[in-house]
Amino acid sequence: MEAALALIGEDLRNVELQFKKDLQSDVPLIRKVGEYVLSSGGKRIRPALLLLAARLCGYRGDRHVPLASVIEFIHTATLLHDDVVDNANLRRGIASANTLWGNEASVLVGDFLFSKSFSLMVADGDLNILRVLSNATTVIAEGEVLQLICTSDLDITEERYIEVVKCKTAILLSAACQAGAILGAATAEREAALSDYGMRLGIAFQLMDDTLDYVADEEQFGKSIGHDLEEGKITLPLIHTLRQCTAAERDRIGDVVAKDVLEAEDFQAVFDLVHRYGGIEYTIAAARDYIRSAKLPLESFQDSPEKTALMELADYVVTRER
Ligand code: IPE
Ligand code: IPE
Ligand code: MG
Ligand code: MG
Repeated sequence: MEAALALIGEDLRNVELQFKKDLQSDVPLIRKVGEYVLSSGGKRIRPALLLLAARLCGYRGDRHVPLASVIEFIHTATLLHDDVVDNANLRRGIASANTLWGNEASVLVGDFLFSKSFSLMVADGDLNILRVLSNATTVIAEGEVLQLICTSDLDITEERYIEVVKCKTAILLSAACQAGAILGAATAEREAALSDYGMRLGIAFQLMDDTLDYVADEEQFGKSIGHDLEEGKITLPLIHTLRQCTAAERDRIGDVVAKDVLEAEDFQAVFDLVHRYGGIEYTIAAARDYIRSAKLPLESFQDSPEKTALMELADYVVTRER
């Protein structure tokens, strides 16, 4: 991961400066909330993917930094909205924006970041990139609504869950890679290869996020543990458990899922079942499979530091603790 980031270190620093510029607004609350979230220590995975994909495809111009900033703007907008929808209080180890400024401000500043992203893409002027990124934002919204519909549904299938994950998360990582390929004027095959890499990487990324929601160290992770369960989100560790547990155990899980606020023993009971039925191992194994298949499309590229970096980034996704 370090080697990957060193390769694009200067570009990433410029992305940080670009955010600050793009955040300018005469409305002070927008700057305040925007700067708070943008400077709170996100991992910058999506900008890194765009920058690495562009370099891998031989891009050497100056549009990559503004576009990498746009992709982080889009990501940040989704987080502002997501924390309202998920009733989250903690993000990146500190109070989430909705906790500090309320739901209204979070939704509206998220709207600003979304709208601003579109203005910036129009200013860039590449219709193909605009097509890819605008499609991604539409699909993310569909994914979040799909997830809402599936709330507390103990019968959700693994296939359905993966569909939600592709839509709400993986599509943006895929679009970041594809936008980089378009910048580098890659062939259609290479553009598709990078898009596939990003999609599979993105699925693994969310599988690990859902695993970490059960087993992470809260301080490391920077988000509340057990929060998915509290919000009635049936993620893969629990789906796998529900497929095997007894009817009585299923009823107990159903009771916990239906509760608005969980006691420590509620979480512990479900956590024990998830462990007993191997839900964590199953989900990590699935993530590893996606990472293996994410690497396949990269193999058609000649060896380069960028290719190595993308391979390493894939490995990082299944070992991350934050
Ligand atoms: C969080 O994404 C949302 C998910 C898709 C799980 P990241 O884990 O990339 O968030 P930051 O930007 O690094 O905080
Ligand atoms: C992230 O899903 C999806 C989007 C932000 C669109 P989660 O709800 O699992 O992400 P975290 O855990 O809040 O970061
Ligand atoms: Mg969330
Ligand atoms: Mg999560």
